Amino acid sequence: MNLFPVTDESLKKGADILKNGGLVAFPTETVYGLGADAFNPQALAKIFEVKGRPHFDPLIIHIVSARALEKVADMSLLDNETRKKLFLLADNLWPGPLSIILPKNEKIPGIATAGLKTAAIRFPANEAAQKLISLSGTAVAAPSANPFGSLSPTRAEHVRDGLGGKVDLILDGGPSQIGIESTVLDLTGEKIKILRPGGTPREKIEGLIGSVEMSGDESGIVSPGQLKNHYSPKTPLFVFSREEIINQPSEAACATIERIALLFFDSSTRDAWRKTQKPLKIAVIRVLSETGDLQEAASRLFEILHEADNSNITRIIAQLAPNQGLGEAINDRLMRGAVVS
Ligand code: TXA
Ligand code: MG
Repeated sequence: MNLFPVTDESLKKGADILKNGGLVAFPTETVYGLGADAFNPQALAKIFEVKGRPHFDPLIIHIVSARALEKVADMSLLDNETRKKLFLLADNLWPGPLSIILPKNEKIPGIATAGLKTAAIRFPANEAAQKLISLSGTAVAAPSANPFGSLSPTRAEHVRDGLGGKVDLILDGGPSQIGIESTVLDLTGEKIKILRPGGTPREKIEGLIGSVEMSGDESGIVSPGQLKNHYSPKTPLFVFSREEIINQPSEAACATIERIALLFFDSSTRDAWRKTQKPLKIAVIRVLSETGDLQEAASRLFEILHEADNSNITRIIAQLAPNQGLGEAINDRLMRGAVVS
């Protein structure tokens, strides 16, 4: 088996594999990443092959200091104001769950960025990730370590189950602390835009650089992570508001052959639902956070969806989170994973 706990020795082995053009799955604070040397096109090609990922979907490049930006981005293409904003963000939110899109350095091969002239760059906060990248002596391109379109892995076992022997080494650093992917922020457009809500809440970014747009469904694919039916559990997922889940039993959900997992955001909704008990045959009840803590809820979301996929549940009914802070990222993932939303 190619899964090892994070130790000095396994990190060194991982770094050697990266240097030699191999693939290493490693923990980050958001989700597990599938890493390759960001400057090695053959190694990058393996990422797309192993994930079954279309080549039009660009990768995030991981670095371990804001200084390393020079190596992966072309800073000369930034105007002064953008540069100022970038450093405000980097000083305050890196290392952390924020990927920043910048003009790419010409040394980064086109396959990493799907031919785009920009690259998403992130300095992760997880210590094992930092050590691995620094030992490798390079920048590490890493998408989430799951088959394309499916749930992101928040544990090494999820990586093993999804990609197994196709990866040279899986480093096990325990469950991801944040549990939802990084926020992707584009600094290269006319207006600064969040292309994917994630582990850094919009409010934190706006507190530093003023208001930013949230990318909607307007023109074309900006960030393929925005494709609907991305982040999907295998089990059909239906999402509802708090009021809907308490008051309106969905017709479909009443089918008696179903084994339903009911996923509440908080215990107050679960308790309100219990008072109006529906004739639903519920196999499993889960609460993302008893107290309605958004951070705790985000960290458990993928874990619980993986659990439903791994049991004989036939339908997941999930409650949306309040749409603020990390709730925006939670709801984004729930709605993209849903059969109807
Ligand atoms: O938290 C994370 O971001 C994790 C960990 C491993 O760092 N990585 C991750 O990577 O979620 P991935 O490949 O699953 O998602 C990257 C997202 C995709 O939606 C991709 O389209 C977008 O970032 N992206 C990357 N480069 C881009 C670019 N130059 N322009 C627009 N979107 C880009
Ligand atoms: Mg992904």
